[in-house]
Amino acid sequence: VSTAVIVVAAGSGTRLGAALPKAFVDLAGQTLLERSLRSIILLPYPVQVVVVAPADFVQDAQAIVHKVAPGLESLVSVVTGGATRHDSVAAGLAVVDAGVQVVLVHDAARALTPTSVFADVDMAVQATGAGVIPALPVVDSLKQVDVTGGILGIADREQLRIAQTPQGFPRAELDAAYAAAGSADFTDDASVFAANGGVMTTIPGDEVAFKITTAWDLNRAHQVLGGIPD
Ligand code: CTP
Ligand code: MG
Repeated sequence: VSTAVIVVAAGSGTRLGAALPKAFVDLAGQTLLERSLRSIILLPYPVQVVVVAPADFVQDAQAIVHKVAPGLESLVSVVTGGATRHDSVAAGLAVVDAGVQVVLVHDAARALTPTSVFADVDMAVQATGAGVIPALPVVDSLKQVDVTGGILGIADREQLRIAQTPQGFPRAELDAAYAAAGSADFTDDASVFAANGGVMTTIPGDEVAFKITTAWDLNRAHQVLGGIPD
């Protein structure tokens, strides 16, 4: 296969505050990880999938893989993540197959991301040779503030975008960017890639690819699925 998708699911979910790591929290009958994987395996062509799980949840992740992709286990592996998202992506990159040309990195927490976004990002990387991220316009006014909340200035939202995942990259350049980054902490892969001189571009993101971070987000996801009446 020429594309790999690394699904980072090794975070603890501090802000969600559930009893389990966030990717293993239930959303209307399926865990967030399960929902993310279902979206990926609906791609109309085979891809390598690497799930990055917390050390204590590798077996749980394997069970979810078996449930979602029976018969496709050879294309899906589960590895242990690290202390930061950056370390977890690096752990996933380490097991990407030799022949893979394009790597997509996806947050398991963006559990409702449609299959089409994965396909669009993959296609755009192949067409442009650049790093590609799905992104949304900013709808609110933005203020720069000091520690007391006093307003120092404004930012022009027309020039800003909200970055989502999956973020896609030419494999060799992403490997090089991660090797160069060491343990520096970047909040997303596009930052790692750009810091190493990689060219990045955006394609339209999708509102439902929002990241489930807080209890409010999980509730919103339920509502998107029609699970909870208003
Ligand atoms: N992630 C990871 N390894 C880490 C930290 C985060 O694989 N050490 C993953 C999460 O599982 C998630 C994605 O990166 O799918 C985005 O991170 P975030 O939403 O911040 O998740 P958590 O770090 O789990 O949440 P919090 O920051 O609230 O603890
Ligand atoms: Mg986090």
